[in-house]
Amino acid sequence: MDLVDIHCHLLWGLDDGCRTPEETLEAARAMASLGYTDVAPSPHAQARYAGGDRDASAARLAEARDRLRDAGLGLRLHPNAENPLDAGFLASLERGDARGVGEAERFVLVEFPFADRVEDAAGLVARVRARGALPIVAHPERCLCFEEPGAAGAVVRAGGALQLNIGSLTGRHGKLAAELAERFLGEGLYAVGGTDLHGPFDAADWIDEALTTLERVAGAAELARLCRDNPRRALAGEALR
Ligand SMILES: [Fe+2]
Repeated sequence: MDLVDIHCHLLWGLDDGCRTPEETLEAARAMASLGYTDVAPSPHAQARYAGGDRDASAARLAEARDRLRDAGLGLRLHPNAENPLDAGFLASLERGDARGVGEAERFVLVEFPFADRVEDAAGLVARVRARGALPIVAHPERCLCFEEPGAAGAVVRAGGALQLNIGSLTGRHGKLAAELAERFLGEGLYAVGGTDLHGPFDAADWIDEALTTLERVAGAAELARLCRDNPRRALAGEALR
């Protein structure tokens, strides 16, 4: 159904995602086989990874496009990064060199820590908005700061769009993440569904199962909104619905 993914670690050698060009190709082939047409790989924009370097990431994106084309894969790749929502990222927004989603770069994919407390997640999201960027918050169902009732809704009210890791629904990230994902989905809090793929192992099977589960739990229209329409809008810099 012309799926779009704006959260995955498809580019090799930039972070804890794909490690070799072969892994990138294998994972890209799996995604294409499931109907994905556009993917914006999101290397971790952290100093401990090569993905923290904008130029290295851009060069790898160009290399990956060449490899996919040479392999006859029609999957289109777009620029992106997964940014920790911290002081360094806020400073990059001030300077105007933060890394955004797709060529439009109007949206920014941000993440909170998995296991650390966050003082005021909604306030941080509001600070991103105040700097002119539209935050998409990665996998809230996996982050400690969203376990507290009402925290996810507060971030949405502050102008953040929530991104579901579709694998959370099948227990890929544990029982608590599965419970939170079902709750947030039921409350209509998610705007985007992403794979957060980190490698090719079993990719076609687990992503297929996750997409099927999302459709069973939330319906075909919600699947299309989360995994096709809104990610495509984010790439184009258009308002999400
Ligand atoms: Fe990620």
